[in-house]
Amino acid sequence: MQYPHDFHRVRGALYCERVPVARIASEVGTPVYIYSHKTLVEHLAKLQQAFRALAPLICFSVKANGNLAILKLLVKHGAGLDIVSGGELYKALQAGCPSSKIVFASVGKRPEEIRESLRVGIFCFNVESEPELESIHAIARAMGKVARVALRVNPDVEAHTHRHITTGIRGTKFGIDPKTALAIFRRHSALSGVRIIGIHLHIGSQITEASPFVQAIKRGANVIRAGRRMGAPIDWINLGGGLGIIYKDEAPQTPKQFAAAVLPLLQSLHARLILEPGRFIVGNAGILVTEVLYVKKAHGTRFAVVDAGMNDLIRPALYGAYHEVIPVGVPRPSRNGHGRYDVVGPICESADVFARDRQLGAVGSGELLAILGAGAYGSTMASNYNGRLRPVEVLVRGARWAVIRRRETRQDLIRYDVIPKAILS
Ligand code: LLP
Repeated sequence: MQYPHDFHRVRGALYCERVPVARIASEVGTPVYIYSHKTLVEHLAKLQQAFRALAPLICFSVKANGNLAILKLLVKHGAGLDIVSGGELYKALQAGCPSSKIVFASVGKRPEEIRESLRVGIFCFNVESEPELESIHAIARAMGKVARVALRVNPDVEAHTHRHITTGIRGTKFGIDPKTALAIFRRHSALSGVRIIGIHLHIGSQITEASPFVQAIKRGANVIRAGRRMGAPIDWINLGGGLGIIYKDEAPQTPKQFAAAVLPLLQSLHARLILEPGRFIVGNAGILVTEVLYVKKAHGTRFAVVDAGMNDLIRPALYGAYHEVIPVGVPRPSRNGHGRYDVVGPICESADVFARDRQLGAVGSGELLAILGAGAYGSTMASNYNGRLRPVEVLVRGARWAVIRRRETRQDLIRYDVIPKAILS
């Protein structure tokens, strides 16, 4: 496997670090998300290393994976956190993240979320519109505080990725156009409740080349220079997340290559750097393990029906995303060359397909498959659709492993439902 991660084969069977994946599945059942501690820490370290000349603040994007144990371990290794809601603020604080390392992006921050963030003293709001800036200013004033903010500039740069995860072009709801940013700088001193300390540029996700980032920084640099001329104390540039990983045959830039392309630009701006990586840190650090329930053939297509569904990992259904699927046990050659399968879940939707026409060798009911690259936007986007219990999650470190999220129970499915006697009696 070409993956830079710690899922590998030992005498043919799939291991996570030093633990056989099949052993975890037999103890906690399937579907199960399994994460490698080593991969997580190493990916964070690679970014820290590549950018160490600028001593960046690296804020892991909680939306990619919000498990408390994972947040805690990244925070322990020096990460801050990038949040998008009061719920994620709560998680970040529960994970022990210093509030001075929390940045808050979202096109729709509620007043209460702004108030709460000011109360705990987060490092910075990434502001997405002028009305939001006014709102933060007014709330901060009423609290006797000054909010640090970065203007999220939409630089109108094509990121060459899926359109659902392209955020830095005109027509998307994200950020402020450069002209409006300049208008804001022009009157920034009248906004005494906010201090504009930076600009933020998140142009999309799963970006495999440096050039869109370079282009965005160049446009952002013009905004920074103009802002500084107008007296705004712009010390920070936040490049957002977006670093692509290998799902199939991509050849994404390494952190080193990325740093080599953008460091000179950042250095000439004399700006401090924030990064908000999600997928790069956790994407290849997690797999989803599922059991084959049935193998069926219909109209000439061979299906492996598995016990995970699009509710557990929605990326293939939502974005047509490719995830590698491999047997957990020793791969077996198929007889008569009939080793190609569509890997499908049990959900009543035609989109409930993890993989089409994949060579898996011989696969039988009761056998385990691993869906790779499932660590980012897997468990965080899971749902209870079709009355399904969201999966258990496990963290492996060396030869040790532990459950970091229990499987939901049937009681969980009805926990928030209310039977209103006044209406139903
Ligand atoms: N910062 C901001 C402001 C973001 O909106 C995002 C992701 C990130 C950082 C982290 O981006 P990353 O490093 O993970 O690319 N559900 C989609 C991805 C949505 C990304 C949303 N924003 C997927 O499964 O591909």
